[in-house]
Amino acid sequence: MKIGIGNDHTAVALKNEIMKHLESRGFEVVNYGTDETTSFNYALAGETVAEAVVRGDVDCGIAICGTGIGISIACNKVNGIRACVCSEPFSAKLSKQHNNSNVLCFGARVVGSELAKMIVDEWVNATYEGGRHAERVQTIMDIESKNC
Ligand code: RB5
Repeated sequence: MKIGIGNDHTAVALKNEIMKHLESRGFEVVNYGTDETTSFNYALAGETVAEAVVRGDVDCGIAICGTGIGISIACNKVNGIRACVCSEPFSAKLSKQHNNSNVLCFGARVVGSELAKMIVDEWVNATYEGGRHAERVQTIMDIESKNC
């Protein structure tokens, strides 16, 4: 699986740790984020990783800012994206199984690196269950289409 990762200036160190962690587990990771700690607009970072997911350049995305909130809002403005902010592994797993999330977000000022790795592991190892969830996810995408 190929994973795109994006971040703002608050999340450079955590992004690097997560990249190393994923690569050590055999994932290919594409870095779309900033590597500088000077101010970088989280909305642009989110847009870049989200567009890479929608284009199919990567299979899914991880987006990190200070809280995970701003970057997730930006990601969700790109058609086709279901980005979820998760601060613990349970929600990360369920966001894939039930909501078919295609971008995982979290906050570098919220979670430490060990917790972030657990969140990422649960998410990348989870599978969308479809079934009763499919109609609900389709409803979300219909709302998006109606509001383009
Ligand atoms: C940057 O200071 C901060 O606002 C950003 O990283 C993020 O937390 C926004 O939601």
